[in-house]
Amino acid sequence: MITPVLLCGGSGTRLWPLSRKSYPKQFVPLIGEETLFQASAKRLSGEGYNEPVIVTNADFRFIVPEQLLEVGIDPGAILIEPDRRNTAPAVLAAALYLAEKDPDALMLVAPSDHVVPNADAFRAVVKIGEAAAKEGKLVTFGIEPTHPETGYGYLELSDCLGADKARAMSLERFVEKPDLPDAEKMVASGKFLWNAGIFLFSAKAIIEAFKKHAPNLMEPIEHSVRKAVPDLGFLRLEPESWAKAEDISIDYAVMERADNLAVVPFSAGWSDLGDWGAVWKESERDDKGVALSGNATSIDCSNSLLRSEAEGLEIVGVGLNNVLAVAMPDAVLIADASRTQDIRKAVDALKEKK
Ligand code: GDD
Ligand code: MG
Repeated sequence: MITPVLLCGGSGTRLWPLSRKSYPKQFVPLIGEETLFQASAKRLSGEGYNEPVIVTNADFRFIVPEQLLEVGIDPGAILIEPDRRNTAPAVLAAALYLAEKDPDALMLVAPSDHVVPNADAFRAVVKIGEAAAKEGKLVTFGIEPTHPETGYGYLELSDCLGADKARAMSLERFVEKPDLPDAEKMVASGKFLWNAGIFLFSAKAIIEAFKKHAPNLMEPIEHSVRKAVPDLGFLRLEPESWAKAEDISIDYAVMERADNLAVVPFSAGWSDLGDWGAVWKESERDDKGVALSGNATSIDCSNSLLRSEAEGLEIVGVGLNNVLAVAMPDAVLIADASRTQDIRKAVDALKEKK
């Protein structure tokens, strides 16, 4: 059995104004009816899966059980982080929590803000990784890159991807968020896959990896888990020692340093809905490439996204090309579609104004 560990602590600033600090993108129905968090929890449920462990922060403690209830999933546990310390402390806390009951517990660590349209294909690939994880490997899932994205981790394969892609392969190295020239070289070499940000390992193996590669996290997180307080169905991690933990992602803390990595290639569709460009690509579009959502109308527009999330508020685009327009009750974004990465600057600018 596999225990899903769903991480949902991020804030998704590039999807402003839909994604907010208090209600980030994973809890919003970005594509379709369900939220990304609900879809992620459903994808990792059913035969072969235990109830999920959710690691989140206090701001989202009510949204999480409410959204799980809507899709009929019981949380196995909801761990509440005292504050955001990135993914390494979150994963270590979940591993220590699970290891108390069973050090061999297999955990599938997954973000809650991705789109994986074919859940069956994904579960089949996880199954392929299971044997390697049971042998103590840290299993990653690899996506064939389409462009030199600098926001992802890269996985260097030891040998070529042959025809039989769906198998666990050993990894030469893991490179997190390279700069553009390096990303270009890696994509051109044909020897790299993108890291999907989803990991499979036993609790024991990842704890060993933390001890070896990020020993400074062990004491504060162990203490925080040991002194965690159950509270109305949540497990509140102890704040004082948590605050001593380094703010670092699992990719930098462990994956870049580990030598027992494996990868299972996954080719059935994956998208990190990190910005409005990705949402546009995943949305239904007309033959001119226009994606409309809510009360939105396009007159002679092309390659644009027009979205109204405000009740009674019409958004009409006339003759637009390459424009993102998103209206909320209290904020409207109008952006050049080639500047999706810069939308986080809007959040910074508004913060400064306050
Ligand atoms: N509980 C918790 N606490 N969750 C967190 C925290 C935290 O402090 N910080 C981030 N998360 C959650 C996010 O909500 C998201 O679901 C997941 O952990 C990954 O964090 P991101 O911040 O989105 O990471 P990233 O996208 O920059 O990079 C990761 O994902 C890429 C693929 O999407 C890396 O694993 C890359 O290597 C990978 O390519
Ligand atoms: Mg991400």
